[in-house]
Amino acid sequence: MKSTFIQDIKDQSVVQDFFLVKTCSIKVGSTGKQYLDLIVADNTGEMSAKKWDIEEDLENIKELSSGDIIKLRAQVSEWNKAKQLKVTKFRKSIPNDNLRIGDFVQAAPEEPEEMYEFIKGVAESFEDQELRDLCLGRLERERERLLYYPAATRNHHALLGGLLYHMKRMLIAGDKLCEVYETLNRDLLLTGVMMHDMEKLNEIMANELGLADEYSFEGNMLGHLVLGVRELDREMRELGIGREKAVMIEHMVLSHHYEPEFGSPKRPLFPEAEVLHYLDVMDAKIYDMEEALKKTEPGQFSEKVWTLDSRRIYKRKDF
Ligand SMILES: [Fe+2]
Ligand SMILES: [Fe+2]
Repeated sequence: MKSTFIQDIKDQSVVQDFFLVKTCSIKVGSTGKQYLDLIVADNTGEMSAKKWDIEEDLENIKELSSGDIIKLRAQVSEWNKAKQLKVTKFRKSIPNDNLRIGDFVQAAPEEPEEMYEFIKGVAESFEDQELRDLCLGRLERERERLLYYPAATRNHHALLGGLLYHMKRMLIAGDKLCEVYETLNRDLLLTGVMMHDMEKLNEIMANELGLADEYSFEGNMLGHLVLGVRELDREMRELGIGREKAVMIEHMVLSHHYEPEFGSPKRPLFPEAEVLHYLDVMDAKIYDMEEALKKTEPGQFSEKVWTLDSRRIYKRKDF
């Protein structure tokens, strides 16, 4: 059982507990000696950990990879205003340790299966048969990975089931906006929502814990916008979807980051594409604010949040 969580770890204390290995690598220090450099995590946060003098441990260390859960003993110290673990010993976890995966990874607050069914239900409600076939087909094919994939390697929705959670909240918000802006085509907008980040499945490399720390080759070279357009082009040809509709959907995926410096070669050129971008930004920002406020006392400002231009977010207390 795990009992010490990262957010409660105090400076100068000794820690002996289980943590998830997020990244691990062997580095060479300024003295020329090798050391083990880790980022360890649990569901309350992450922390840097180092093990010096690793010559005797090398065999052990070579077995280590991200996604492992290890038990470690370490001295806590502060370095550059951040707490750090100086590891004296560690071992990999064994089944007898009786660990709960929920203690180690952050998961979306809703069950993946339920979110998936909700999204599928939205696709089933489309009046446009072609868009219904497109979305249902894709959801069906990607079901397995969607159930655990995060939406990012860090920050917004970097959690187990994060991609589904991002999609679901955008679908609900998008549906409501269609009531306000009656000229919006609901099926088109919501297809854009379902497809806009779908190729994150191939851009990011994630394991079944929803942990992602690397981009794939295609992810690095092309990114999820271009990958998305490429895949949609193939699928929509197969389904025989007409040129105007197909190109508009591809455009929505291509333009959803809005600015060239964020990866969109075109800005949105019709209302559904414009709204898709704002839904995306809104969901990411609100998520980051919610996360910052979880760690903030009422009446106080959060730590600086760098994804929100280093703003400190205020947590209300009286109403
Ligand atoms: Fe995106
Ligand atoms: Fe997105």
